[in-house]
Amino acid sequence: LIRGRLLSFHRAPQSLTDSESYFYEHDGGLLVGDDGRISAIGDYATVKAGAAEDVIEIDHRPHLILPGFIDTHVHFPQMQVIASYAANLLEWLNTYTFPEECRFVESDHAARIATHFYDEFLRQGTTTAVAYCSVHKASADAFFAEALKRNMCMVGGKVMMDRNAPQGLLDTPETGYDETRAVIEQWHGKGRNHVAITPRFAITSTPEQMTAAQALAQEYPDLFIQTHLSENHDEIKYTCELYPEAIDYTDIYARYGLLGQKTLLGHAIHLSEREMDALSEAGSIAVHCPTSNLFLGSGLFPLKALMRREKPVRVSVATDIGGGSSYSMLKTMDEAYKIQQLLGERLNPLESFYLMTRGNAEALSMAADIGTLDVGSVADLVVLNAGSTPAMKLRMETVNTLPEELFLLQTMGDDRAVMETYVAGKAMKPGSIAPNSGA
Ligand code: GUN
Ligand code: FE
Repeated sequence: LIRGRLLSFHRAPQSLTDSESYFYEHDGGLLVGDDGRISAIGDYATVKAGAAEDVIEIDHRPHLILPGFIDTHVHFPQMQVIASYAANLLEWLNTYTFPEECRFVESDHAARIATHFYDEFLRQGTTTAVAYCSVHKASADAFFAEALKRNMCMVGGKVMMDRNAPQGLLDTPETGYDETRAVIEQWHGKGRNHVAITPRFAITSTPEQMTAAQALAQEYPDLFIQTHLSENHDEIKYTCELYPEAIDYTDIYARYGLLGQKTLLGHAIHLSEREMDALSEAGSIAVHCPTSNLFLGSGLFPLKALMRREKPVRVSVATDIGGGSSYSMLKTMDEAYKIQQLLGERLNPLESFYLMTRGNAEALSMAADIGTLDVGSVADLVVLNAGSTPAMKLRMETVNTLPEELFLLQTMGDDRAVMETYVAGKAMKPGSIAPNSGA
């Protein structure tokens, strides 16, 4: 029985005063069953009355308890790329990122980074991530093995790439296909693991490899597909030269049958109206990676404009480590807010917290399992303290409403604001001292 201030969204908030869009309980109780799922939620006294006499209680008051954060685009082999000094995307990839990813041919290295990867996400309150591994099957094995150990819900894929990168980072249309199949057979559905078909982007895949990705997508129609789209002007120009028959960048993926409702397109910043219509019709997700877009100088993603189009484009939010500069979803939404400011748009804090939780779960069609505190959902939770630093504590003295508190958390918060992270009801934040700590 977990006690605290509970917050969970039912749907996307329409305004800052849309209190119908969420559930909030000031003295809330959340009961977790033996299966790690939420079996009851409500005010503490009521939930307590319905619980077993000897139920273990953890009191997180006065902190907020939300569904764990979800990160919909991150690169597992880029933990030692973050904070690399480059002028733009292609220079960053060639100078730092590709050489670093070559090291993931070694399974010992991949396994070591995997432990740090999950430690860091749990430190930040992120309980689910959608990740690119490297081209090497060993990297996917390490990624999924560690997720299984921790019982975390993870999506990942062996990257497919067969040109325009160093030799140590290339597969072929055949090996890319075979090894992706092997990863699917070995890991998909094991524990809470999900495999994504992952052609890196059109620049690093030949038409033959795109055809192989298409074949996988047809054989495994339920799998996620992830790739990158329209991040940077030089990238777009080069991509269109490589696929002259396509009418635009988006059309390349469409031609190979890679656009569907389970397709996640990283960045998607510089889209034409035609491309936005195409994504809207396909139901594919444009994944906003604000810290990365600012760090690499890629551009300003029109988040609000995409959401309110007559043909809306589905969106999600993500860190894009290591192009991104923070593992924190709070910091990510802080930067997302600032990007909308520069575009003359407002992103309110309710929308931000919706996006990090239920919004991202909806983007993954996983809202029945994660992203909410609904009964039946897995108890993946984050506990947040809006007074976690002296300056935040001082500012909290003048905070009167829940949206104000959320906005403070988003603007000034980081891993210090994360008091605990639960995975399937188990306290998992590294170094946490919760009574039922799984560590
Ligand atoms: N486009 C292709 N690969 C990558 C990557 O690793 N990071 C980012 N930000 N963009 C990419
Ligand atoms: Fe990326």
